[in-house]
Amino acid sequence: MDAAAAPTEPLRVGVLASKTGTNLQALLDTVHGREIEIVAVAADRPTAAALDRARAAQIRTGVFTLADYADRAARDAAIADWMHERDVGLIVLAGYMAILTSAFLSRFEGAVVNVHPSLLPAFPGIRAIEQALDYGVKMFGVTVHFVEDDGGVDTGPVILQRGIELPHATDPDDVHEHLRPIEHALVPEAVRLIARGAVTRDPANPRRMLISQ
Ligand code: GRF
Repeated sequence: MDAAAAPTEPLRVGVLASKTGTNLQALLDTVHGREIEIVAVAADRPTAAALDRARAAQIRTGVFTLADYADRAARDAAIADWMHERDVGLIVLAGYMAILTSAFLSRFEGAVVNVHPSLLPAFPGIRAIEQALDYGVKMFGVTVHFVEDDGGVDTGPVILQRGIELPHATDPDDVHEHLRPIEHALVPEAVRLIARGAVTRDPANPRRMLISQ
């Protein structure tokens, strides 16, 4: 068979989660088993409902509780080893609440993406929606971005962003309910684009990711 015509293996994806796993579910429902294969789901707490979603989809799960390791470096090394054993080519942080060490990021360079509930660079870090409400913004939104070893939090190059006007918002839970469907669209879209090789870095500006459809 002509090498160019050979079918390509789906991108093997590992997901890190801490919470309910609705973004994981969005990936399972849309791109898993198609453009990508989610082969591993790890959580930093055994109670993360994301683990149940993964088990229901017959995906290998791992729990990496900080208390079980000497420190964060040891915990992250264990996660990285576990992901490498499963030949993971892309890590998706889907509501993962711990900061990854430089050593972890260097083992998955250019292959870690995160979803954040604000229009970055506004309101990075924790309690992004509360920060936005405190600031009094009228426009909220979601960013999917690469995670780089740049010393910052939520500072990596933007892949996709989408905003929503909520001029009367006062309640963080209400804002989150409006943002969730956006997250559940953008995360699979970003992963699909990466799997297709449609996301590249602009040589003229390494911060700008070019998207070819
Ligand atoms: C998402 O809203 C994400 O933006 C934030 O954590 C939440 C995770 O939700 N970082 P889920 O666990 O995917 O339901």
